[in-house]
Amino acid sequence: MATSKLFLHVFLLYFLLLACIVNAKHVNAGNVQGMFILGSSVVDNGNNNFNPDTTAKANYAPYGVDFPSGATGRFSNGKNIADILAECLGLPLIPAFADPRTKGGAITHGVNFGSGGSGILDDTGSIVGKVTTLNEQIDNFEKETLPALEAQVGSQRAAILPNYLFLIAAGNNDYLLNYFIGRQLLTPQAFAAKLISVYSNQLKRLYNLGARRFILVSVYPLGCSPVVSRGLGCLPIQNGVVSIFYDQLISMVDGLKQQLPASDIVVLNSVKLITDVINNAGAAGFSNTNGSCCQLSVNGASCQENGSVCNDRKSYVYFDGQHNTEALNVAFVGKAFASADKSDVYPVNLQNLLHTNF
Ligand SMILES: *[C@@H]1O[C@H](CO)[C@@H](O)[C@H](O)[C@H]1NC(C)=O
Ligand SMILES: *[C@@H]1O[C@H](CO)[C@@H](O)[C@H](O)[C@H]1NC(C)=O
Repeated sequence: MATSKLFLHVFLLYFLLLACIVNAKHVNAGNVQGMFILGSSVVDNGNNNFNPDTTAKANYAPYGVDFPSGATGRFSNGKNIADILAECLGLPLIPAFADPRTKGGAITHGVNFGSGGSGILDDTGSIVGKVTTLNEQIDNFEKETLPALEAQVGSQRAAILPNYLFLIAAGNNDYLLNYFIGRQLLTPQAFAAKLISVYSNQLKRLYNLGARRFILVSVYPLGCSPVVSRGLGCLPIQNGVVSIFYDQLISMVDGLKQQLPASDIVVLNSVKLITDVINNAGAAGFSNTNGSCCQLSVNGASCQENGSVCNDRKSYVYFDGQHNTEALNVAFVGKAFASADKSDVYPVNLQNLLHTNF
């Protein structure tokens, strides 16, 4: 029984990733040159390592226990969703902006600006120090990376950027490190509207710089995170609050289509993609959906440095108190790639986004 279950599970994960890789290589066909990645710890691949002013770091064991080079600053045991998407597209791993080696030819497939603890709002994350906010990430893209890329490629942004994806995973910390800790005295609807208004301007700014193809990763089902639920499964109140953000994000994207006519924007419904796995854990190959794989530090969110770690990491949804395992990340990207259900990925799946010709 245990063996057949393990087999089924490994098979399912392998199948999802393989489907993603095979289809992507097929549809990509040189159409996507690279990817610019912005957002929070969901995508940070080491930027915060270079920032002495924040405690939001994952540059120690057991983070990276399944990553070829060990702890890199990724907030998982292995690859994060940006890594998996890059792999699906046949791209190399996209380098971290703050890494001094991210220069010259190293930027031709894009750059990752993600910063753990950061949010859509500038004041989000201040309780974990001075992180790189989404606005600052866009500043870095505009002032440093974009001119360097133009020089490297030898053409102008308007010609270059349609060949790049903009993967943005922002908003989790606006809830976890801001709204949920009582720093915003607003209704859930009013707070979501505040975030959406700022986010919309951030996307317009990127569009005006030449960005055309966006993948927006909506806020995660934070009510299911061990740091929030304390092992009680998924808490409906918190999940309800972040679902309001998703609903407003969909309306924003529908509205932006008129204002940014040359854009293609796809939204990943993280709440649904992850709770579907949690609610069908056995079939999806997971057996632990409510606990963290690593021993947690006193904050209940991050792994204890050199602490213990579970053995069956492929069967856990959560690696630490907040971040998912590589196994969940693979299932997440695989579903976003191929699902025909608009409530998973809107208005088209990633495979269809990549069919779009410019
Ligand atoms: C948490 O997970 C364990 C094992 O996976 C399960 O037995 C338990 O019922 C879960 N608890 C809740 C409240 O979902
Ligand atoms: C964790 O282990 C590493 C490698 O053995 C060591 O360098 C580091 O000091 C340890 N950290 C703590 C807090 O024990």
